[in-house]
Amino acid sequence: MTKLTEKISFKSIILGALVLILSYIAQINLAIAILLIVLCIYLELRNLKIKNCSLPNLTLLYLSAVTSGYILIKHNFPIYYIPFSIVPMLTTLLFGNLEISLLMTMASSVTIASFSGYPLQTTVLSLTSGIVSSILVLGARKRNTLIRAGILIAVFQVLTLIFMEHLQIISIERHTILFINGIVSSIIVLGVLPVFEYLFNTATNISLLELADFHHPLLQRLIQEAPGTYHHSLIVGNLSENACRAVGANALLARIGAYYHDIGKLQKPEYFSENQANIENKHGDLAPTMSKLVIMNHVKEGVELAKKYRLSPPLIDFIRQHHGNSLVYYFYLRALEKTEENQDVEEEGFRYPGPKPNTKETAIVLLADSVEAAARSLKEPNPGKIGELVHKIINNKFIDGQLDECELTLKDLEKISAVFIRLLCGIHHSRTSYPESERIENNHKKPSKENSHLSGENKKDNP
Ligand SMILES: [Fe+2]
Ligand SMILES: [Fe+2]
Repeated sequence: MTKLTEKISFKSIILGALVLILSYIAQINLAIAILLIVLCIYLELRNLKIKNCSLPNLTLLYLSAVTSGYILIKHNFPIYYIPFSIVPMLTTLLFGNLEISLLMTMASSVTIASFSGYPLQTTVLSLTSGIVSSILVLGARKRNTLIRAGILIAVFQVLTLIFMEHLQIISIERHTILFINGIVSSIIVLGVLPVFEYLFNTATNISLLELADFHHPLLQRLIQEAPGTYHHSLIVGNLSENACRAVGANALLARIGAYYHDIGKLQKPEYFSENQANIENKHGDLAPTMSKLVIMNHVKEGVELAKKYRLSPPLIDFIRQHHGNSLVYYFYLRALEKTEENQDVEEEGFRYPGPKPNTKETAIVLLADSVEAAARSLKEPNPGKIGELVHKIINNKFIDGQLDECELTLKDLEKISAVFIRLLCGIHHSRTSYPESERIENNHKKPSKENSHLSGENKKDNP
């Protein structure tokens, strides 16, 4: 009991009092206010840590459900017109959590029932519709899933009414309205989802998968103008997705974030090692401080490009955070080499501006980005070399404090390393030499063939 009271913050007590006062003024049954307070306390104690699942966002969804019900009832529409499933579907899609959605369904159902005039019927219909719709759209990745869910919700709503009326169809009109209600609700959800994504600063699986389409203008530009960066981003996406799955993070978000993390390189693609396969090194004539500026600018330019193409804020976080405040090591060393003995080179001046990754997903992309670039530069890669390299890079990032603001544990880092090593070994496996092909190769051997792709500047850490 002591622990329970300790966990409830002063802010919650004030909020609870506010709910009671507002309910009294709005002449809402005070029992509803008590229920809302209990649900809020439950949520606070559960501490679910779902991004953007804040009290204001939950309140907005709750008020949307209650207000739509209230308006329809006040205009003498029968309860069958109330779109019971819209808010439960939105809650599930926006937060990706069934528990939150069920609590929202419970709160809105009981509130609407309290002023509907038919409390039992409204509660049962609303709860059934809300629970079924939440389950049906959980993890939805396509718009079609919502339409299919709408049809099933329509069927469930009609069946609920039939069971409530003891298996009799008293009025076909009610059943028709409830059926249409289910389908129309799913269409409304499709329409308003982008608005709520914008308001809540989040991205659902549906909009993320639309960004995975390689016909997106930004990905098309990467393919055409910076093919090396495009290929690098695909591998980073693959590494990040699998690593996220291993530690229970959002794998889809990380994959799409990785696809777009380096779009800032589109401004000057030829200055980045992965795009220098057939051209001379552009940094040859530049001072290290100038090179550093060009390299570091890809983060700022990436953010600007993302805003121009209206990428959602969670994706912009990947662009902003994928280097944390790491050191542009190669050019820092070059600056040290070029500086006379009595002069100093400020390390801070060669660090990305940050911020450091603040989610598991952005931190994993930071790690995948570095290991992919470093593994690409390995000569004659083998599992031993790849394993050593992955451990070294992850350790360095950890020691450098780049993972300080995310929630990855040491155990997570171990799992991430294992995934990276497994996948990188698959990508960079040494080619098996068959006796026949060896003989043919020896006959046609040309000395200039080796390492033709290793012409880039920075082999240690991809800028
Ligand atoms: Fe990168
Ligand atoms: Fe980058």
